[in-house]
Amino acid sequence: MIDRLVRKGVAELPEYIPGKSKEEVVRRFGLNYEDVVKLASNENPFGPSPLAVKAIQEYAEEVNVYPESGAETLRKELASSFSLKPQNLIIGNGSDEVMELAVKAFLNPGEEVIIPFPTFSMYESFTRLYSGKIVRHPLDASFDYAVDSLLDKITPRTKIVFLCSPNNPTGSVISEGDLRQILEREVLVILDEAYAEFADKSMVPLVKGYENLLVLRTFSKAYGLAGLRVGYGVAGKKIIDYLFRVKPPFNVNLLAQRAAVEALRDIEHLEQTVARTVAGREYLIRELSRLSGVKVYQSQGNFVLLELIGDNVSARGVMEEMMKEGIIVRSCEGFGLEDRYIRVSVGREEENTRFIQKFKEKLSHGK
Ligand SMILES: Cc1ncc(COP(=O)(O)O)c(C=O)c1O
Repeated sequence: MIDRLVRKGVAELPEYIPGKSKEEVVRRFGLNYEDVVKLASNENPFGPSPLAVKAIQEYAEEVNVYPESGAETLRKELASSFSLKPQNLIIGNGSDEVMELAVKAFLNPGEEVIIPFPTFSMYESFTRLYSGKIVRHPLDASFDYAVDSLLDKITPRTKIVFLCSPNNPTGSVISEGDLRQILEREVLVILDEAYAEFADKSMVPLVKGYENLLVLRTFSKAYGLAGLRVGYGVAGKKIIDYLFRVKPPFNVNLLAQRAAVEALRDIEHLEQTVARTVAGREYLIRELSRLSGVKVYQSQGNFVLLELIGDNVSARGVMEEMMKEGIIVRSCEGFGLEDRYIRVSVGREEENTRFIQKFKEKLSHGK
């Protein structure tokens, strides 16, 4: 009976496939928890700011009261860091929530949503959930945005264009010129900048000039607060006002709001995280480029995409072997890619070295 009652399309929604957890790998291969390295979910391996941890401890006894409904303190703090106004910001339970609020507020059933391929799977999930029509835009052979062909796909039926920069899982970015061309069209552009802190440039300043741009950012990556769930949207006042209309009250918990404010103030921790991550990323790219049978893509995120070249290669096979040794990386099937791609998150220095060492061994064994 329940199958007949559920909303149309919900049963067909694909399940989100997260990176494997340490616990799962410990159980499966009988390893020690401390010996397992997880390079599968683009988390921050250096941990959160100590100031954020202190705030969580301090406010733990105050969770009997509701948090600020619109996260006003955090909005104010973020606004001054971007030289914008609080009315240009909305805080979500992770940037995933802001993404959903945008689709909920703007998409009518049957309208088209342009989504790059491959990219983060939630854009398609929310489009399906709100009965939109997905128009896939394949990135070119180097995983760059082929903007001319994207522009060709925009029609009067198009409501939203999703862009992810740096793109998960490819690490590629969209140029400002290309973005501006898309923004000239009458569509809502949702630019997901979850990894912008690791990149050369952010497009947030463009929200001052384009009322149809919504930029999504998060505290889950560079700020190391993935477990707290706090992200935000930056846009012109009109978009933000509409998102507030569909936002549940008290959507971001009190500890998350307090910790995010402190994390934002700890500039030194952020700078260190970014510097070490970028150095780790360049190390991984350099080492992987030296290997025959592997193609590595340039990345501006805290992860690197690699492709196994040749016949009969299996990314899944290599990953399984790596897992037995306690190293978890991400298969790219959840992104719809073939079984030759692996995404590796940048870890701590010793984790990156261990990954390279084991990966080299597995490659030579597999030959
Ligand atoms: C591109 C992209 N956007 C958004 C998210 C989700 O971020 P949050 O934790 O803020 O919901 C992720 C998480 O992996 C991501 O890769």
